[in-house]
Amino acid sequence: MDKLVIEGGKKLQGEVPISGAKNAALPLIAATLLAPGVHVLRNVPDLRDTRTMLKLMGHLGVEYRWDGDVVTVDTTKLHHGEAPYELVKTMRASVLVLGPLAARLGAARVSLPGGCAIGARPIELHIKGLKQLGARCRLENGYVDVTTTKRLQGAEIYLTVPSVTATENLVMAAVLAEGTTVLKNAAKEPEITNLVDMLIGMGAQIEGRESDVLIIHGVSQLRPADCAIIPDRIEAGTYLLAIAATGGEGTITHCNPGHLLALLEKLRAAGLVIEEGKTTVTVRPPVLGKKLGSVDIITRPYPGYPTDLQAQFMALMTLADNESIIKETIFENRFMHVAELQRLGAVIRIDGNTAFVTGTMGLAGAKVMATDLRASSSLVIAGLAASGRTEISRIYHLERGYERLVEKLSGLGAVIWKEKEEEVM
Ligand code: EPU
Repeated sequence: MDKLVIEGGKKLQGEVPISGAKNAALPLIAATLLAPGVHVLRNVPDLRDTRTMLKLMGHLGVEYRWDGDVVTVDTTKLHHGEAPYELVKTMRASVLVLGPLAARLGAARVSLPGGCAIGARPIELHIKGLKQLGARCRLENGYVDVTTTKRLQGAEIYLTVPSVTATENLVMAAVLAEGTTVLKNAAKEPEITNLVDMLIGMGAQIEGRESDVLIIHGVSQLRPADCAIIPDRIEAGTYLLAIAATGGEGTITHCNPGHLLALLEKLRAAGLVIEEGKTTVTVRPPVLGKKLGSVDIITRPYPGYPTDLQAQFMALMTLADNESIIKETIFENRFMHVAELQRLGAVIRIDGNTAFVTGTMGLAGAKVMATDLRASSSLVIAGLAASGRTEISRIYHLERGYERLVEKLSGLGAVIWKEKEEEVM
C-alpha cells in the first residue's frame, strides 16, 4: 500500500488546472445506459471511481475506451447483469445504474451499499421513488432487485431530503417513463444540472433546470450523448484552501467560479484576497498586517456550503486567529479527520455535529491516517501547512477523487511524493 509523504511549510505558488468533476462523471457515465449507441464523454477525470464505474458498465456488456480525458462508451450490447458487492462496496455511486437500467431494460440488480466511513447513507429515497414510477423493488440477500412489467409510469415524487444521487437516479428513470414526472425537493447541485443538460442533449424533455422542482415529460427513446463533464468544484476548493493554508498565492484554472460562491464568500470573510476570472480564481494571503480570521460554517445542500469541503476548511481554520465553529448537517459521522488533525497539533473540540476549532500558531508534521476521501484531503492541506514531515497512510482514498494530486501539488511548489508503506506486524 502507498503512503504520501509531505515536507511541509512551503508556500504554494503558481497555477493549477482543475479536472472534470468526479460526482458529475459518475452519473453521466450511468446515463449512457439510457440510449443504445456510441456516447462521447469529455473532460472525464481519470480516477479510481470513474474507472470503477466503467468497470461496472463492462459487467453490463458496455464497451468503452479512454482517449486522454475523452471516454467513448458503446452501450449497443447492453444486457442484464448485476452490480456486485465487490464493486459497490468500493464505490456507493454504483447505485446510479438502478434508474437507467430500470428504465431501459425493466430490470436491475445492485448490491446494497451499506454504511460507509462518513455515515449510514441509506438509499430508501431511491427505492421509494422507483416504486412510485411503477417499479417493483425487492431487497434480498443484500441486493436490491428492481423489475418492471411495463414501461415506467410518470408520477409525482417528493424527496423528504434533497438527496443528490436519488435525484439523479429518479431523473434518469423518469426520462423514459410514460407520462410526466414531477420531482419535488430535488437536489440542485451543479452536477445534477450537468446530467440534466446531457439528458436534454439526448432528447429528454426536462423543465426546471437548476431548480428544486424538475418536471420530466417521458419520451420513448433517447439518442447517444456527446457531453462535457463540468469542472470539479470540490477539487477546486481543495486547492484554494491548500494554497491559503500555506500562506501562498496561486490561481486555479479551468474551473467555474460560479459553483464556488459559498466557499469564496467564506474565504473572503477570513480575510483572504480572492479574485474571480471567467474560468479562474486567484487566492492571496490577507493584506499586510492582517491575520487569517476565524470563520464559522454550516454545511448545507447546494448552493449552501458543501459538506465535501468541510474537512478541508477545518484544516485552514486550525491556523486562524480565533475560534471557528463548524457544523456538519449532511452526514452524521464526518469528523473522522479531527483526531488526525489533532496529531498535527490542531486544537479542536467536538460536541455532537459541531466542531470548535481554536487557531494555533502552527501545525507540526506527524504520521496520520486517511479515513475517507475528503478527510484525506484535509490531512494533505494540514501537512502542506505544517512544519516538518507528514506521512499519510491509506491514500487509496485520495485516489478515488483527486486526479494527479502529487503532480498538481508539485507544480505549485509542494514537496510531496508517494512511497511504499512498510507493513508492520
Ligand atoms: N439520504 C437519506 N435517504 C436516502 C438518500 C440520502 O436519508 O435515500 C440522506 C443522507 O443520509 C444524507 C443526505 O440525505 O444525510 C444527503 O445525502 P445524498 O444522498 O445527497 O448523498 P449522496 O448522493 O450519497 C453525493 C455525493 C457525495 C456528497 C453528497 C452530499 C456523489 C457520487 N456523491 O452523495 O460525495 O457528499 O452527495 O453533497 O455525487 C464525495 O465526493 O466525497 C462524496 C461523499
